[in-house]
Amino acid sequence: MSKIAILPGDGIGPEITAQAVRVLDALGESFEMEQAEVGGAGYAAHGHPLPESTLKLAKQADAVLFGAVGDYQYDTLERALRPEQAILGLRKELGLFANLRPAILYPELAGASTLKPEVVSGLDILIIRELTGDIYFGKPRGVRECPDGPFKGQREGFDTMRYAEGEIRRIAHVAFQAARKRDKRVTSVDKANVLETFQFWRDIVTDVHKEYQDVALEHMYVDNAAMQLVRAPKKFDVIVTGNMFGDILSDAAAMLTGSIGMLPSASLDANNKGLYEPSHGSAPDIAGKGIANPLATILSAAMMLRFSLGKLEQADRIETAVKTVLKQGLRTADIFEDGTQRVSTEQMGDAVVRALR
Ligand code: NAI
Ligand code: MG
Repeated sequence: MSKIAILPGDGIGPEITAQAVRVLDALGESFEMEQAEVGGAGYAAHGHPLPESTLKLAKQADAVLFGAVGDYQYDTLERALRPEQAILGLRKELGLFANLRPAILYPELAGASTLKPEVVSGLDILIIRELTGDIYFGKPRGVRECPDGPFKGQREGFDTMRYAEGEIRRIAHVAFQAARKRDKRVTSVDKANVLETFQFWRDIVTDVHKEYQDVALEHMYVDNAAMQLVRAPKKFDVIVTGNMFGDILSDAAAMLTGSIGMLPSASLDANNKGLYEPSHGSAPDIAGKGIANPLATILSAAMMLRFSLGKLEQADRIETAVKTVLKQGLRTADIFEDGTQRVSTEQMGDAVVRALR
């Protein structure tokens, strides 16, 4: 029996996670679900955003369903105790290196995108962001005395961009394998014209591609990719890129689809164990009001079934149920438009559960 660690977190985390758990329950499968505190809730209950007991549960489980963390009330804590440390700690401890973020525009929400309907209608792309390397973790880093050039002797900030060959290879494999199940096209985004690290990235991705001749590979500079994402986003299928470029491009892609409340994500390790969470944060501005959109978390649960638990049919059932409630015109406040019916977080959960049956 699959074991799922449920980590609701703080802010809107508990409200949206509760709806995803109801949906999982309604599938009629027997999962073992165990809940634990994380983020602000971990700090409140155990004095740490990632308590030992929570980490242990996450390690034992086949998959982790994570809500969100980062409510305002924890803003004044020192950095090591801030809720966001929980997600960084989990990524590191669980060896999660591939962040998958699908950006799908449901036809019913075409009016919610900031771009013209003809540019985004039918959008279905997958951004794969590497999570362990790049300038975010490279050492040395810090502030020092500038050793040369016109600013010699002044203070300077510096970071180090690095990517190990094995780190690039494993994310490239994830991208090509994902593309095989989709439209068989990968765009690798880099800055090979300026950065040594990303010329190396390009060379390694090209080498891994030899094993996937059924998939088309295109290389694109990140500045052009940013432009193409808003000009003609439907031209992409799978985008694979490094940690920093992926951080930025995936947020831009998220906005094409109208609401961050609709976007799920997966963070995978080498064995398809994963952590699944909505792309958004803890939305402190609406926490406790019962108006948050639970669909990103419900769709994250579907990704969990597909990637970590091998329940493809059940994943499809959830995604179909989400499409059904959108067709029925049900909308939480973030996607509400004239002519649709405004529902609460819980009513949206109810509707998905009904649509499953
Ligand atoms: P956010 O995603 O929490 O909120 C941005 C805006 O989107 C807000 O107006 C919010 O009300 C709205 N929103 C977000 N999710 C929604 C949903 N499901 N339904 C309806 N509206 C929704 O991002 P923000 O405000 O930048 O960050 C708030 C806190 O969350 C910060 O402490 C941040 O560090 C944390 N955060 C945590 C993440 C995580 O748990 N993995 C990811 C991103 C941010
Ligand atoms: Mg980001």
